[in-house]
Amino acid sequence: MAFRELASTPAPEPPGAPWPASMTRTDEGLELAGVKLTELAAYGTPVYLLDEEELLDRARAWRKALPDGRIYYASKSFLTPAVARWMIEEGLDLDVASEGELRTALAGGVTGENLGLHGNAKSRELLALALDLEIGRIVLDSPGEAELLAEIAREKGVRAPCFVRVTTGVHAGGHEFIATAHEDQKFGLSLATGEAKALAQKVAASDSLELRGLHSHIGSQIAGTEGFVAAGTRIIELVVELAEEGISVPEIDLGGGYGIVYTALDPTPVAPAEVIAEIRSALTETCDKAGIQLPELSIEPGRSISGPAGITCYTVLGVKDVTTADGVRRYVSVDGGMSDNIRPALYQADYTAMLDRDSDAEKVACRVVGIHCESGDIVVPDVALPGDIAPGDLLVVAATGAYGRTMASNYNMLRRPGVLGVRQGRARWLWRPETWDDLLGQFAEIDDEPGESARAPKETDES
Ligand code: LLP
Repeated sequence: MAFRELASTPAPEPPGAPWPASMTRTDEGLELAGVKLTELAAYGTPVYLLDEEELLDRARAWRKALPDGRIYYASKSFLTPAVARWMIEEGLDLDVASEGELRTALAGGVTGENLGLHGNAKSRELLALALDLEIGRIVLDSPGEAELLAEIAREKGVRAPCFVRVTTGVHAGGHEFIATAHEDQKFGLSLATGEAKALAQKVAASDSLELRGLHSHIGSQIAGTEGFVAAGTRIIELVVELAEEGISVPEIDLGGGYGIVYTALDPTPVAPAEVIAEIRSALTETCDKAGIQLPELSIEPGRSISGPAGITCYTVLGVKDVTTADGVRRYVSVDGGMSDNIRPALYQADYTAMLDRDSDAEKVACRVVGIHCESGDIVVPDVALPGDIAPGDLLVVAATGAYGRTMASNYNMLRRPGVLGVRQGRARWLWRPETWDDLLGQFAEIDDEPGESARAPKETDES
């Protein structure tokens, strides 16, 4: 990772992005939704903190922006049974991409009709379960999967509601998008080669599959709307081609990927209402020219709902100055790391952080690191923090609500932290922290005979 100039930037002071709207600084330190950070940290650190109202407000903003279409909240970004239920209560649906996500949604009381099933490879069992639940939609990712689903649906005497995932050749991410004709990646069917069209035709002709729509997801953490408009336009062109053959596509889904603010360097995201207005007007124009109606529109935002609603609170364990070629960098070690936030290591993602306590000390260039045995175990690559930072200080990292807990691991046998939901001056566990019993209880007895420990563990829940 390239070092930035050692003239690091401090985190913007709350309230305001990248912090949740309810976060403020008082004389006694930070507060989230009316609860002191010190009180929240007393539950144990590291801990993820989720501002429930922020999550809901963000869901509502998308709902309001697209009143006549469906918003499938991307549950991979952050999901608990309670979150699943709240999304449905707010009029959203849920995008699930695994049996575990599906079962978590069911645990929140969500029914099949409000679920969309994703995944580049779905097992026979998962497809069968989805049909048994009368799932709202299954997004097909390959001809083989379509055949398997058709076979299962025929056995069950039902018609499976299908979307075809289309690779539009528009790849977006970060601040730019580049159009590529062919993409060497595992998702979707190519528009350029005709494979997407061929699968749509096959689904339309099937007696056990029903073509409900076309799907596109172009990437993540996308600033601006150009990428969505470009991909949507290509999808509409396919809708037009299919219409000419008498195949109707009632709905198009443009996926997720709407960017958020992580640091002061990130642009302010386009508001949901504007995103939808721009997409709708561009696509309506394309449809008008072709003389077709704009299909129903749906989207799948994840990060833009859950990301800014979450922060992580750590305790500083150690502080050390390291002399680099560019100057002295202060390494601040906290009590978590890549096991609670893999994104810096995986995507070189940038974050920002601040101390709970106020300090007049001059700020110094810091790198916040975790306690894992990896030099890439970075929490915040570069941030200016008060020079008197010391072990025992509480440090918060912004915008960790999406893909933090859901991508957490037990590396180095760390227990995955819990998520405290905070609302109107009160906190409660939305996702409890792992205990030593949770961790150690997974191991087989050390004196198990080889034959015994090789047996598959019993399912406790057959539902
Ligand atoms: N729909 C589909 C089909 C997706 O694959 C994804 C994300 C989403 C919606 C939601 O995207 P969002 O609005 O949250 O950006 N783990 C990575 C990003 C990979 C996400 C994969 N798919 C991260 O931490 O940034």
